[in-house]
Amino acid sequence: MAALFRPWTNTAFRVALVAIALGAVAVVVAPMIYVRTPQWRRQLDPVDQPVQFDHRHHVQDDGIDCLYCHQLATVSPTAGIPSTDLCMGCHNQIWNDSPMLEPVRRSWFSGQPIPWNRVHDVPDFVYFNHAIHVTQGIGCESCHGRVDRMGSVYQVADLSMGWCLDCHRQPERFVRPKNLVTEMGYRPDDQAERGRALVQEYGTRSVTTCTACHR
Ligand code: HEC
Ligand code: HEC
Ligand code: HEC
Ligand code: HEC
Ligand code: HEC
Repeated sequence: MAALFRPWTNTAFRVALVAIALGAVAVVVAPMIYVRTPQWRRQLDPVDQPVQFDHRHHVQDDGIDCLYCHQLATVSPTAGIPSTDLCMGCHNQIWNDSPMLEPVRRSWFSGQPIPWNRVHDVPDFVYFNHAIHVTQGIGCESCHGRVDRMGSVYQVADLSMGWCLDCHRQPERFVRPKNLVTEMGYRPDDQAERGRALVQEYGTRSVTTCTACHR
């Protein structure tokens, strides 16, 4: 009697099995990879804002320190976005009829805050605190990049747990003198040595216990 299935069908069957298995794995793994990509995290996308506020003008051209506008960063968990009053301290005199500043004037006269859109946002189950970092000599640039060169602010780091831990395991790679936390472009040649000395001087710990960030 002729064989019901020819020999080659064995091979075809095995190939099909492997393909189905791979397909099943891909269905599970592909989204896991995708949610970790910068596209999904909206990292590197400049965020549109109600006012075209430009850090390049204010920080680079006018030399205003980060802490003039984000002064909460040294004393509180959040760095905060400055109030309209602070903008108007300058802008009722300079550029006071610029159409680009119309929403700022409207906010000032109406008392309604400018509805800025958030750029950075860690999930609620993560505890983050600016003051702890800034007062231990971790610079804004280490986490936010060259904000002084950004037309609109975008997220530079992926803010993943791995990213936090990467620094927490070896803070000496990033620490800088406390009085230079807002300096942009700080790149000493001998960070390895200086970092180790600063970590010793500041008594910086390597914090990796889960409950530090998940409380
Ligand atoms: C003149 C005031 C001013 C100065 C100076 C300033 N900022 Fe800002 N910053 C703002 C305003 C207003 C926003 C909200 C609009 C935006 O996101 O662009 C902002 C937003 C940001 C954000 C994004 C916030 C979010 O939603 O996640 C970061 C990060 C930031 N600033 C860092 C810095 C750093 C670092 C410096 C110093 C190099 C600096 N800023 C200097 C006013 C200022
Ligand atoms: C310490 C003074 C100062 C403060 C505070 C300040 N600005 Fe400015 N701003 C300037 C100067 C100076 C310019 C002109 C910039 C340039 O061209 O170099 C400017 C320019 C601008 C422009 C561009 C205007 C145009 O027509 O080109 C916008 C928009 C603006 N600022 C928004 C803001 C907002 C919003 C705030 C508050 C978060 C703010 N500024 C706080 C000094 C200030
Ligand atoms: C160790 C990393 C780190 C350092 C250092 C750091 N930031 Fe942030 N920043 C973050 C994270 C993470 C968020 C998002 C926080 C959240 O979602 O609650 C954030 C949010 C912000 C925001 C949005 C408003 C807020 O407070 O949530 C501003 C503005 C800001 N940072 C400015 C600064 C400035 C200015 C400095 C330096 C003086 C600085 N940051 C230093 C990590 C850092
Ligand atoms: C560039 C370095 C750096 C990055 C990135 C960083 N940290 Fe830290 N973090 C530090 C240093 C340094 C300390 C201070 C350790 C000490 O107090 O000795 C610290 C302390 C903390 C503390 C206080 C821990 C305690 O028990 O006192 C928390 C909470 C924290 N970080 C959360 C985070 C989270 C969440 C992220 C990521 C979103 C993050 N950090 C990213 C350097 C960093
Ligand atoms: C330095 C801060 C920090 C420490 C320490 C830390 N985590 Fe996280 N963890 C984070 C951040 C930030 C996220 C959010 C990541 C994201 O948005 O992708 C996170 C997310 C998670 C998640 C959600 C799943 C995921 O991967 O997004 C779990 C589960 C978790 N952490 C468990 C732990 C455990 C267990 C430990 C101790 C071994 C730990 N974490 C220590 C910062 C930390």
